[in-house]
Amino acid sequence: MVDQKLIEAALAVQKQAYAPYSNFLVGAAIRDCSGKIYCGCNFENASYGLAICAERCAVGCMVASGQREIQAVVVASRGGVTPCGACRQVLAEFGKDFTVTLVDSKTSLVTAYWTMLDLLPGAFSLI
Ligand code: THU
Repeated sequence: MVDQKLIEAALAVQKQAYAPYSNFLVGAAIRDCSGKIYCGCNFENASYGLAICAERCAVGCMVASGQREIQAVVVASRGGVTPCGACRQVLAEFGKDFTVTLVDSKTSLVTAYWTMLDLLPGAFSLI
């Protein structure tokens, strides 16, 4: 099922991205199991390796609000790219069978639709 509100949230927060070094703007929106939405964008640093991805920014926002179970994620970017490996591991900490929908910000169209398990089978876990 297409979660249009979550798509719009990801497209909106993408506009807040701070990416003067890569010029690659990313927005992520997470819906938790109670239905609330949390947003994040990438923010870069003059020390390049310190860049924080949009997905991890959104996860931090969710956790800081006291929620720990992801129901769905939408990531918006130019071309609708998939989350990087680090973000996959961080997302997988908070659920395995939620959906990850990718949206091309140029067209606002969905480019791909995955489950978390598809994106990171065999994720590292201590528990
Ligand atoms: N980026 C994200 O925000 N999410 C990803 O999953 C991959 C990459 C950001 C990090 C950096 O600011 C820019 O995209 C280029 O790599």
